[in-house]
Amino acid sequence: MSTLPARTQVGIVGGGPAGLLLSHLLHAAGIESVVLESRSRPQLAQMIRAGVLEQGTADLLTEAGVGERLRREGAVHHGIELRFAGESHRIPLSMLTGGKAITVYAQHEVVKDLVAARIACGGHLAFEATVTAIDAAPSGPVRIAYALNGSTATLDCDFIAGCDGFHGLARQTIPPSARREYLHEYPFGWFGILVEAPPSSTELIYAHHPRGFALVSTRSPTLQRMYFQCAIDEQPQRWQPAAIWAELTRRLETRAGWRPVEGPIVQRDVVGLRSFVCEPMQYGRLFLAGDAAHIVPPTGAKGLNLAAADVRTLAQAMIAHYCEGRVDLLDGYSAQCLKRVWRAQRFSAWMTGMLHTDPQATEFDSRLQLAELEHLTASQVAATSLAENYVDLTRH
Ligand code: PHB
Repeated sequence: MSTLPARTQVGIVGGGPAGLLLSHLLHAAGIESVVLESRSRPQLAQMIRAGVLEQGTADLLTEAGVGERLRREGAVHHGIELRFAGESHRIPLSMLTGGKAITVYAQHEVVKDLVAARIACGGHLAFEATVTAIDAAPSGPVRIAYALNGSTATLDCDFIAGCDGFHGLARQTIPPSARREYLHEYPFGWFGILVEAPPSSTELIYAHHPRGFALVSTRSPTLQRMYFQCAIDEQPQRWQPAAIWAELTRRLETRAGWRPVEGPIVQRDVVGLRSFVCEPMQYGRLFLAGDAAHIVPPTGAKGLNLAAADVRTLAQAMIAHYCEGRVDLLDGYSAQCLKRVWRAQRFSAWMTGMLHTDPQATEFDSRLQLAELEHLTASQVAATSLAENYVDLTRH
């Protein structure tokens, strides 16, 4: 790998989808950046995350020149299934949104495509680089200190983009008095499995069941992703495969006798669900993007889409600064993103509440949940609202 410069225009902390896409969008406009990523390249490419790209996200990746494999290998879905009370109901996403669709393509594949594109362009991208300090206060130098290959170095920048995720350093370097955080933790988690089997369904299935939520998703014609709601502290290794299949089968069963296609379970994990927002998403010349600034529960499949939308907004603002001498877009970055973030928070919390079984819920709550699902499948207006938000919430 080429040695890193001591100075760049935009220092990017974190080489996940947000940091890599930002670097790529800036490069297309002739703006230099350096990406510092703490994980190794193989670790980064193995991160198992969500897999649903909104129409606008797939379009953005394509316009950025990294959509070729996504178009070839991603699966375009025109609807989703909602399943409850033993019945399946299709929400025809494309029909309700003037032809828009989602693309099911794993986040780590997006990351692989972006890494390949950055390297092909000769971009500065360092793996296993540990950022130790970020200085971006309104006055003073804008600088990142990091350790790489056993030595330490600094990177002077015009701006810093904090794309280092929820647990990263970037947000923590904003003084607590200069930020406000909103957090909601859900009293349940998701047990996720990767299965070597053909798809169980041609479209994603979101199921509500008294025993808890279940989701059938896909990764490829031979690899499937499924989830079921579990306790936050569930130990995934304690489950025998037969017990996992029994649980999924019960939650997904229909009167017509539907069953998932079983196969070897090659990976399993448990994640907690939380909603989180940090306001503002800017401090001095540090701009937060993606999970560093906000987390949504995965039910609405918005995490990656929100991250991509943040960096689209940030790249536009930086391009306006460098190419036209304008600062208004940079000044408005946080407010513009937060509008979208709260829209996604609303949708994700609503989907989560509607589909999960809350251990604290009363019977009244459970009946309201069913009424909400019934309404959604009986009213075209309600279904259209779901479809618009599911397919294209983060475009603006
Ligand atoms: C996934 O495929 O991992 C996935 C799909 C839809 C969701 C969440 C996760 O809402």
